[in-house]
Amino acid sequence: MAVKRLCSILLVVSLAVVARATCPAHCTATSNNAAWPCRYHSNGCQVTVAANPARVGAADVNVAVISPYSGGLGELMTMVEPAIAAAAQDVENSNFLPGFRMNLFLGDSKCSVPGATQATIETLATSPTKHALLADSCSAACEAMNDATQFFNVLQVSPGCISESLSDSARYPYFTRMAPSYRFNVQTLYEFTKLMGFQRVGIVVGYRSINTLGVDFLTSLMRDDVAEGRYNWTVLFTAQITSTGNIEDAQSAAEEIERKDSRINIMGLYQTEGAMFLCQTHGRNLLSPSYTFMIASGWWNPSFILERSGASDCPCTVTELHRAAYGVIAADRGPMLNTQDVHGLSGRSFADIYGNYTEECLSFGNGTGVCNHQWAGYFYDGVWLIASILHAFLTDGNRSVADLATPAARQALEALSLQVDFAGTTGRVRQFSSPDLEGDRDGVILLRQAGGPPESTFNQLAYRTETGILFQTDVVWSPDSAHRISCSSGTCDLVNGFRPADRSSSCPDGRVWINEQGCSECPQGEFASNQMAQCEPCSIGSFASATGSASCQLCSAGRYSSVARASSCANCPT
Ligand SMILES: *[C@@H]1O[C@H](CO)[C@@H](O)[C@H](O)[C@H]1NC(C)=O
Ligand SMILES: *[C@@H]1O[C@H](CO)[C@@H](O)[C@H](O)[C@H]1NC(C)=O
Ligand SMILES: *[C@@H]1O[C@H](CO)[C@@H](O)[C@H](O)[C@H]1NC(C)=O
Ligand SMILES: *[C@@H]1O[C@H](CO)[C@@H](O)[C@H](O)[C@H]1NC(C)=O
Repeated sequence: MAVKRLCSILLVVSLAVVARATCPAHCTATSNNAAWPCRYHSNGCQVTVAANPARVGAADVNVAVISPYSGGLGELMTMVEPAIAAAAQDVENSNFLPGFRMNLFLGDSKCSVPGATQATIETLATSPTKHALLADSCSAACEAMNDATQFFNVLQVSPGCISESLSDSARYPYFTRMAPSYRFNVQTLYEFTKLMGFQRVGIVVGYRSINTLGVDFLTSLMRDDVAEGRYNWTVLFTAQITSTGNIEDAQSAAEEIERKDSRINIMGLYQTEGAMFLCQTHGRNLLSPSYTFMIASGWWNPSFILERSGASDCPCTVTELHRAAYGVIAADRGPMLNTQDVHGLSGRSFADIYGNYTEECLSFGNGTGVCNHQWAGYFYDGVWLIASILHAFLTDGNRSVADLATPAARQALEALSLQVDFAGTTGRVRQFSSPDLEGDRDGVILLRQAGGPPESTFNQLAYRTETGILFQTDVVWSPDSAHRISCSSGTCDLVNGFRPADRSSSCPDGRVWINEQGCSECPQGEFASNQMAQCEPCSIGSFASATGSASCQLCSAGRYSSVARASSCANCPT
């Protein structure tokens, strides 16, 4: 009796787990935030494909695709689903994986650690057995999933996680990714800054480990240059914004820029803290073209000005924030290609994939759907990467589905993932295999610059590829057309172009400019006025008792100083 009851409880529990959908019922990735039925919820969160007759009787290979339908990145999955579905259909139609059918099951990580852990365990622990994981797009969620996947012997391929922490293959094994690590955002800004000939920079960093690790990497690149005599960097200051909404930190960072007169500023900030900080620079008139801001980006929406202006920690109007952002240059993952070149695995032209994706994402919600070309391509290429390594393992290796989801299969699939090299819609897809970059995508980074309208402010400035930075449009520092560097056929006239002044401002009387310290007070016994380059000593017979003196005073009657640089006078001998 007890056993029977236990069995029926277990049956109910397992049925409940099988039945629980891992993707939401309602999706609001629409331009008016209206809720619509999500595309695949009613299909058990499985992506539907039109069956290829050649695959009749095929064995199922199952891939879980997990990323946020909600949380910090918004409804990313709803926006990118058409790219996932297109890849599934293209694999179905192809000659890859003969005798097998690749099924995709969607899940919601909510962009959080508990959400990611739950979605991963739910999908991997329930029927049908999953053989690979395409997940996630939020770095903390990726880390949590990697721990959870250890129990299920599947390779994790991340479409969007960029934290450098995930390059640690001892801590996060059986992990590979489609989007280039954040370190390449940083590297791109570093190369661009050097290309411009800028040397004196200020750095403002946020509190996320992804940003602080990135800035550590940046300063190590600069330190090595100085040590090796390759380039004379001066890092004027590093200021930190230590928490979300910390307006005091944003104010002090802007004050540091004023104090040190840092014309070139590199920010390791996401849009929430970044817009708060830019608003503070507007309040102090630290504007382009005199002051330049570059972001190792990762998360700045094209409409960030509308999203952030007027927030309690960002008290700028749309016009003010738009002005503050003018000329901001941001490095981030490259978007889907839209050329006539052909995808190395699916054989379709990039323009065709791009056009079909755009049509599909816009048609969601009765024509109010939202696209995300910046992320969708990494899902399309990620599905294809998994299909190609499964093909190598199963078809080329003459193996069966029963060989998958084992420690040996996971190991073999990871090794295969390090060997891929194909033309993807996100650029050439291949992985670094050096120990410190194992599983890191050697991909294309896009440099965007702000200057477009507030609802879509970023223009595509340049791509960074393995062969260097290729410019797509002119560098525009300010609304004034004189402050424009002309670029054509991939190169820029940087030498003759306008550059923000990379030098000190004038200091008030009593202070002189010192490179690393900004305007600095003269010591006792010295003075400075009228923007003198150095403090000068008080001459014999005069003194300066205070620091920061604009002039020296003559000794009063009955007192004298017999040396230069006196801070006081002595009584005359009687
Ligand atoms: C760096 O500055 C020093 C001193 O001004 C100069 O001698 C040296 O040539 C510079 N190095 C480079 C690589 O510009
Ligand atoms: C979508 O794909 C079909 C078939 O590949 C093609 O005929 C059509 O032109 C594509 N649509 C767009 C907008 O590119
Ligand atoms: C979809 O749009 C059409 C035409 O714009 C409209 O007539 C229809 O009512 C809409 N459907 C829903 C469910 O909103
Ligand atoms: C593939 O495996 C099957 C069964 O394990 C075997 O009969 C067949 O000869 C193998 N084919 C090749 C090409 O190795």
